[in-house]
Amino acid sequence: MTDQAAALRELISSLRTDPSRQQDSSGTSGKTAHVVAVTSGKGGVGKSNFTLNFALELQKLGQKVLVFDADIGMANIDVLMGVRSRYNLFHLLKREKSISEIIQVGPNSLPFVAGGSGLTELFSLSEEDLLYFTHQIEEVAQDMDYILFDTGAGLSKETIRFITASDESIVVTTPEPTSITDAYALVKVVHDLEETARFRLVVNRASNRREAQQTADKIRLVADQFLHLDIPLLGHISDDSHVSQAVKKQTPFSIRFPNSQASKDIQELAFRYTQRSMQIRSDSPKGIKGFVSRLLKR
Ligand SMILES: Nc1ncnc2c1ncn2[C@@H]1O[C@H](COP(=O)(O)OP(=O)(O)OP(=O)(O)O)[C@@H](O)[C@H]1O
Ligand SMILES: [Mg+2]
Repeated sequence: MTDQAAALRELISSLRTDPSRQQDSSGTSGKTAHVVAVTSGKGGVGKSNFTLNFALELQKLGQKVLVFDADIGMANIDVLMGVRSRYNLFHLLKREKSISEIIQVGPNSLPFVAGGSGLTELFSLSEEDLLYFTHQIEEVAQDMDYILFDTGAGLSKETIRFITASDESIVVTTPEPTSITDAYALVKVVHDLEETARFRLVVNRASNRREAQQTADKIRLVADQFLHLDIPLLGHISDDSHVSQAVKKQTPFSIRFPNSQASKDIQELAFRYTQRSMQIRSDSPKGIKGFVSRLLKR
């Protein structure tokens, strides 16, 4: 516990003393993809399954969505889709491929960028590489309504950058106390670094709506009390054995078992998300331009 606290402090101070953090990038005007980071404090809570099936449901609702596997080291969105990823971010960074070449197509023609070793490279790029990457990603973003980043769990420096660079973060938690406390810890660290960061909760593996609400209330209460931060509950997904069955079949659960409770839940959640009242109100939406500059500034 003490070790963890020390590591956290070190992480925070390293991010704070980074001079690039002092300069705020300007938002973009005009239409730009809404950038969402899907994250969690604790690992294995269902981020990747959520991201993938949420993207598929948004797509069904007529939205253009790009899924970006930003999990450093443990990339697996492609495995969940049963798609062999030939190229990933690494090839883009090495300028071996253009962004349109590394975007692959999953079930229901869902476009995605596979993760891999590329992301560690991302944070040590030359200025020229950076410009290339920025232009490439901006190009595809023009056509998208949403870009969803499936991040690694926990508080790595890279993940925190993804979160603070995004327009909003969806924090996935389960009803387990360890998942709840880690979710709050993540929110707190990010909030301390970037007050404007906006979060929403998704409670995964809930027994029922009531348990989801109670789980969310625990986080919301402390966030309100100690951070004066509102973290709306976006929705929940039931604990449903169809999810792991679908994982084993390497097919998204919403496609394999469309009538399962988990599928009904994610469908409802995605619908709610697209409703106006649920849209995050940001004073200066960062969009993709803001996202890449914030992400990559050193
Ligand atoms: N709603 C659910 N009901 C039942 N099981 C679930 C549910 N969501 C996830 N799981 C189980 O949890 C496993 C881990 O899910 P997933 O890979 O999406 O988590 P993750 O948060 O992305 O993990 P990591 O932190 O390693 O990236 C799944 O393979 C599945 O077995
Ligand atoms: Mg994952």
